[in-house]
Amino acid sequence: MTSVLVLNGPNLNLLGTRQPEIYGSTKLSDVEQLCRDHGAANGFDVTCQQSNHEGALVDAIHAAKGTHDGIVLNAGAYTHTSIALHDAILGIELPVIELHLSNIHAREEFRHHSYIAPVAVGMICGLGVAGYTLALDALIGHLGGRT
Ligand code: DQA
Repeated sequence: MTSVLVLNGPNLNLLGTRQPEIYGSTKLSDVEQLCRDHGAANGFDVTCQQSNHEGALVDAIHAAKGTHDGIVLNAGAYTHTSIALHDAILGIELPVIELHLSNIHAREEFRHHSYIAPVAVGMICGLGVAGYTLALDALIGHLGGRT
């Protein structure tokens, strides 16, 4: 069965209470359940992880190779700073869909640049929690599945 890693970065553990006017009021645990349910309903497996630590995210990306078929990645603020995450994605040769709850291009200028974008299959941003299932469907489509 196709297996997808949904990987969330720093501060996303605070979803639901962190700036709900920007990120919404859904908790991370509910987002993760939504992703797992979406996989179960569409015939693929979803594993969810979150870390606030850049190195732990690098480790999770490395560990995905041979375990998962692709990654949905919301790298949080590391999106805008992390060459290490960029290189990790290049190193594993798995498809990555970049995801942001908010529209990073409509926010502060420092959020407009992404180190993930050049090494991602594509990016979904600004669509809130719905972006997670859209990203999963995009990844499954990219992998040649039906969704
Ligand atoms: C975010 C956007 C980032 O700029 C920010 O640092 C986050 C969340 C989003 O999902 O909209 O932590 O990735």
